[in-house]
Amino acid sequence: MIRVVTEPSLALIKYWGKAEGGVNLPATSSIAVSLGGLTTTTEISSIDAPADVFVLNGQEQHDAKIQGLLLHLRTVFPDTARLRFRISTENSFPTAAGIASSSSGFAALAIGLSRAAGLKLGDRELSQLARHGSGSAARAVFGGFTRFPAGSSAAEQLYPHDHWPELRIVVVMVHTGAKPIGSRDAMEHTRRTSPYYASWVEASRRLEEPAAAAVGSTDLDELGPIMRRSYLSMFGSMLGADPGVVYWLPDSVQLIHRAAAWRSQGIPAWETMDAGPQVKLLTTAEHLPALQERLAREFPHLKTLTATVGAGPRVYGDAQA
Ligand code: PMV
Repeated sequence: MIRVVTEPSLALIKYWGKAEGGVNLPATSSIAVSLGGLTTTTEISSIDAPADVFVLNGQEQHDAKIQGLLLHLRTVFPDTARLRFRISTENSFPTAAGIASSSSGFAALAIGLSRAAGLKLGDRELSQLARHGSGSAARAVFGGFTRFPAGSSAAEQLYPHDHWPELRIVVVMVHTGAKPIGSRDAMEHTRRTSPYYASWVEASRRLEEPAAAAVGSTDLDELGPIMRRSYLSMFGSMLGADPGVVYWLPDSVQLIHRAAAWRSQGIPAWETMDAGPQVKLLTTAEHLPALQERLAREFPHLKTLTATVGAGPRVYGDAQA
């Protein structure tokens, strides 16, 4: 049995929309950080059974995206076609709520399946395989800071986790139920129907290099405004879709305003959001206690999870065990 522990990949510069020519090829370049301390643990064993078995958080499920990744594996590596797998996954954080559980989930699946099948894949091949589950998963096969260039088949690591040890990411859980529409459908809907989609893709192009430079110089005050432009323009494209996609809840909006107020009081608290109502605040270890104190005082009803920059996937066991 193989056990793989992965971390979600939080985009600082967002991927939203697919390019043509392959499965989950991104139309926009994304830059992301691995959320150390939040984990997906996936156990995979080869079984003697007619079909694969998939168990998520203790419940057996059928998942078309997982089937898609398995089909891709069996097509590209025909020797794996005769194998059937039991896959069991647990998240230490809410699933399908906009905390990038698909990124850590499919990265774990790609790494675990390749090991369980006895394949020796390099990072680039693992990233390509994970991408068949979800685009963000292509980044989550790496730790630290990653980039997934527009149109590319694989992500790459920009910096390892110890590049920026002071960075902290506070995930504020606004609502932990599953979201009304998943990222895959919502981004396709945006691409097809939003008059702002082309402008979003164009605007996003101008954010990639400045964001990479700000990550390179570990300058949060430089990175923060660029991050905000990325997620806010992404939501602009979603709001313009027909019908518009609205993931935000009242607490999400309130947090955006309060983060601005806290910044004006000298606390770096730079927010970003994904396909869900949660708000992720980037700060530094030095300012974390002040930020947590503000959150506890002003949002006592909301739980938070605090992450460091994650070191990336860990793999235990071997195919024979
Ligand atoms: O790859 P998916 O389907 O998990 O979509 C990711 C979409 C965002 O989280 C909104 C942005 C991103 O780059 O992670």
